[in-house]
Amino acid sequence: MTEREIFEVLAGVKHPGQGDQDIVSLGLVEEVTVEGQKVTVTLAFPHRPDALKNYIVGAVQAAIYRQAPPGTEVEVKTITRKAPEKQPELTLDAIREVSHIIGIASGKGGVGKSTVAVNLAIALARLGYRVGLADADVYGPSVPIMTGTEDYVPDMVKDEKGRDLMVPAEKYGVKWISIGYFSQPGQALIWRGPMACSALKQLILQVAWGPLDYLLVDMPPGTGDIHISLVSDIPMQGAVIVTTPQAVALADVEKGANMFRNPSIGRPIFGLVENMAWFTPEAHPDEKYYLFGQEGGLKMARALDIPLLGQIPLVQSIREGGDTGSPIALGTRPDALAFLDLASKLAESVNR
Ligand SMILES: Nc1ncnc2c1ncn2[C@@H]1O[C@H](COP(=O)(O)OP(=O)(O)OP(=O)(O)O)[C@@H](O)[C@H]1O
Ligand SMILES: [Mg+2]
Repeated sequence: MTEREIFEVLAGVKHPGQGDQDIVSLGLVEEVTVEGQKVTVTLAFPHRPDALKNYIVGAVQAAIYRQAPPGTEVEVKTITRKAPEKQPELTLDAIREVSHIIGIASGKGGVGKSTVAVNLAIALARLGYRVGLADADVYGPSVPIMTGTEDYVPDMVKDEKGRDLMVPAEKYGVKWISIGYFSQPGQALIWRGPMACSALKQLILQVAWGPLDYLLVDMPPGTGDIHISLVSDIPMQGAVIVTTPQAVALADVEKGANMFRNPSIGRPIFGLVENMAWFTPEAHPDEKYYLFGQEGGLKMARALDIPLLGQIPLVQSIREGGDTGSPIALGTRPDALAFLDLASKLAESVNR
């Protein structure tokens, strides 16, 4: 008999416990081999116990013996199909040893949120804190390029409960994780609501962070449902809001702040960072040009009743540092010191 003929025979064997469906359509037949006069049938039973297993094995043997020529030897093996691997539930275990989780948010895109987040992380590390940064911008991750880690491919490790955790990149004294480590450079990532939301949470909760003093979360631009869900599901202690000085941005900043401050979430805003507060030409580091007017950040902070944590100038080297993966906060220029100052003000505000 050929393997095909055996399959036809098996298609006549019914499973009485499954509405008399045949065992082939039920997917119980894993493999059939015929070698000379020896027929071997492997049946794969699902994970749950099947009371009729022995009955089926007998029925298979009998059906083949009935059809097969004399001298045929039939062996029926059984295996148990592995239960499909369940995606483990996200728990807070991986951030158990993280003291402060802080969202870096803005109301509007392009105000320099990622630039501030990356430099602030490095500055906190320079002050001696253990720091991690999760690039939660699943639509346009910028941390890999800003930190020169775009070639990093995360390893997976198991936690003590056997769940997979991503190993973050480590550079400049900071642990970095980004969805960018999981995609080809330049590849557009299309995430829809729930998917983006769970990817985001995984980027925070499925990472081998270990003990950290600060975990900064570079929030995706916008103030929609994803953000609210992220802030409420991750124990974020509060937020830093990044803005530029134009007064027109006030309404946006307020929206950003309200993601955290709304009554159902109720997390504090540690302060406002005014980015591009003034322009300083590379060749004249002592000059300040207030392109968008002076004290815009201060007025905004007052209007929102939050502290102004810091002012970062608009300087060419800040952009270059981001483009080349060597953030300005690593150096000793005045703009680097602005980030160190910001870091110590934040630490002060958080610990107050
Ligand atoms: N203080 C600064 N001086 C000079 N360039 C800056 C400064 N802050 C940000 N930039 C530049 O502005 C651009 C946008 O900054 P960044 O990507 O940090 O903004 P973002 O708010 O994170 O944007 P998105 O909303 O797209 O995430 C980058 O090219 C960055 O290098
Ligand atoms: Mg960004």
